Amino acid sequence: MSEKRTVPRHVAIIMDGNGRWAKQRGKERYEGHIEGVTSVREAVKSAVRNGVEYLTLYAFSTENWGRPAEEVEALMSLFCRSVINEAPELIAQGVRVKVIGHRSRFSRQVREHLEEIERSTAQGERLTLILAIDYSSRDEMTDAVRRIAREVAEGRLTPEEISVQTVGGSLYTAGIPDPDLIVRTGGESRLSNFLLWQASYAELYFPTLLWPDFREADFEEALRAYASRERRFGLVSDGVK
Ligand code: FPP
Repeated sequence: MSEKRTVPRHVAIIMDGNGRWAKQRGKERYEGHIEGVTSVREAVKSAVRNGVEYLTLYAFSTENWGRPAEEVEALMSLFCRSVINEAPELIAQGVRVKVIGHRSRFSRQVREHLEEIERSTAQGERLTLILAIDYSSRDEMTDAVRRIAREVAEGRLTPEEISVQTVGGSLYTAGIPDPDLIVRTGGESRLSNFLLWQASYAELYFPTLLWPDFREADFEEALRAYASRERRFGLVSDGVK
C-alpha cells in the first residue's frame, strides 16, 4: 500500500456483452460466449506479458443459472472444452488456474474438468488465473459469516477477536491479494455481486466495448488507464508516497 505500482498486481474482469455481440450479428447468444474465449486467451497472454500476478474472470454468476437451459448448457460445455483445449498453452505460459464459487451445483463432468485444470496447472508461477464460476459475492460473505460463527460457537474464537483479516481470510479468495483494478466491459457501470468485499479500494474501469471485442490492445489500454490513476486508500496524496 505504501508504494505506487504502475502495473496492477491483480486485475478482475466482468466479461459482459457476449449476448449483445452475438445478437448484433444475427447469431445465437452462445456464439458470443464462444468468441469471448478468444478475448480470455488474449487477456491471459497480456497479463502474463505485463507482469500481472492475478487475473480473476467472472465467467458464471450464481444468477446465471436462471438463463434459458440451452444457454446454461452451452456455457457448461464451453467451460469443459476450453479448459481441455487451453491447458497446454496455460501450462506453457506458467499459468496456475484456481476456481472459486459453489461447485456443488455443477454436473460431475464439469466438476471433474475444473478439478483437472487446477491439478494440471498447479505448478504455474507467473500468473494465477482465478475463474469465478457459480460465484456470488453475497453467498461468499454469507459462507464466511457461517464459518466464523461456527468457530465462535465452538469456542475457538471470541467475537472481539474477529478482525478484517478474519473475514478476508474466510472468503473464497483467502490468500489472494485484493484486486487493484476491476474492469467491466459492455458499458454497464456496476459490480453485479462480484468481489464486493475485495473491491474496497479497487480502481474501476468501464469500457463500452463488448467482451468479444475486448482484445489484447484493449487490456493494455486498461493497464495504462490504471497506471494514470492516483490511489490514496483513504489517505491524502502525500500519505501514500
Ligand atoms: C456475460 O455476457 C458473459 C457470460 C455470462 C459468460 C462469460 C463466459 C465466457 C466468455 C467463456 C469463458 C470461458 C472460460 C473457460 C473462462 P452476457 O451474456 O450477459 O452479455 P449481454 O449483456 O450482452 O447479454
